[in-house]
Amino acid sequence: MAKQASVFILFTTYCCRSLAVELTSNNQHPVVNEFQSVELSCNIKSISTPKPRIEWKKFRGGDTTYVYFQGKISGALENRAELRGTTSIVIHNTTRTDSATYRCEVSAHLDEKKLDELSIELTVQVKPVVPRCSVPQSVPVGKSASLTCVETEGFPLPTYHWYRDNEPLPDNPKSSPKFFNSSYTADPKDGTLKFSEVKKIDAGEYYCVAKNPAGMARCGPQLMEVYDINIAGIVGGVLVVLIVLLLIAIGISCAYKRGYFVSKQQTGKNYKPPAKGDAVDSKQEEEGDFRHKSSFVI
Ligand SMILES: *[C@@H]1O[C@H](CO)[C@@H](O)[C@H](O)[C@H]1NC(C)=O
Ligand SMILES: *[C@@H]1O[C@H](CO)[C@@H](O)[C@H](O)[C@H]1NC(C)=O
Repeated sequence: MAKQASVFILFTTYCCRSLAVELTSNNQHPVVNEFQSVELSCNIKSISTPKPRIEWKKFRGGDTTYVYFQGKISGALENRAELRGTTSIVIHNTTRTDSATYRCEVSAHLDEKKLDELSIELTVQVKPVVPRCSVPQSVPVGKSASLTCVETEGFPLPTYHWYRDNEPLPDNPKSSPKFFNSSYTADPKDGTLKFSEVKKIDAGEYYCVAKNPAGMARCGPQLMEVYDINIAGIVGGVLVVLIVLLLIAIGISCAYKRGYFVSKQQTGKNYKPPAKGDAVDSKQEEEGDFRHKSSFVI
């Protein structure tokens, strides 16, 4: 009785499966580092049509392109991909633009359920490149300071980690006795390191590391000096006063050398201001002249 039942189950399973094309995948979310190979796994679990039609499509950024069509790899993958087994695809030397959704479609016209398809979400991870770092060269004690680190190629987005004199700065300075007195806050997501109040102990060579699962990259160390604002303020103030005085002195001596004062005195001597009457006369003369001329012209 049990034997009959199991035979029956076997038969129905065989019968019904054979009437439908059915696909499976070993991995529908493959992740690979750029320039490595990856398999887009699509296996036929059951089928009864001897030569099914197999197609692969790629969906990326609103575009749909054929990857495998009429028995051939096509498009951008033409020289970089090959079929593995009957339906899987292997992409060699992946690039970041291979990150996409791929769909494996198998149509079997002799099966009752004639079509099955499955999607593969491929992620191509990209190593970070050397980040751009900005570190203020010198900061007065007690002032705020902001260090920034930006990396634009890495995928997934990298996290940022600052180092001082080759030692990693903990995200929270209070978590380490060594950095306990420092006033910084570190944001591993946007790469900024902000000091609310710089202290002498904060001086040193800083660099930042951008890191993601595909790798890491760092910028070159840059020195941040911390100086005492009082001395600097006094020295700066004295310097400014000295420079202003120097400029005034230079200006006066130049004016003398060019004879600016002398020539003014001379012109003063030679210039005879006209008497009031004279001025009126000449004005009248001019006006008369003008009137005469204009009437002549008219
Ligand atoms: C892989 O592709 C890159 C460009 O995406 C190319 O520069 C490199 O030479 C290729 N490597 C191999 C082994 O084909
Ligand atoms: C932090 O500051 C306190 C008080 O100013 C001092 O005693 C201590 O040595 C400092 N710690 C470090 C690591 O500089």
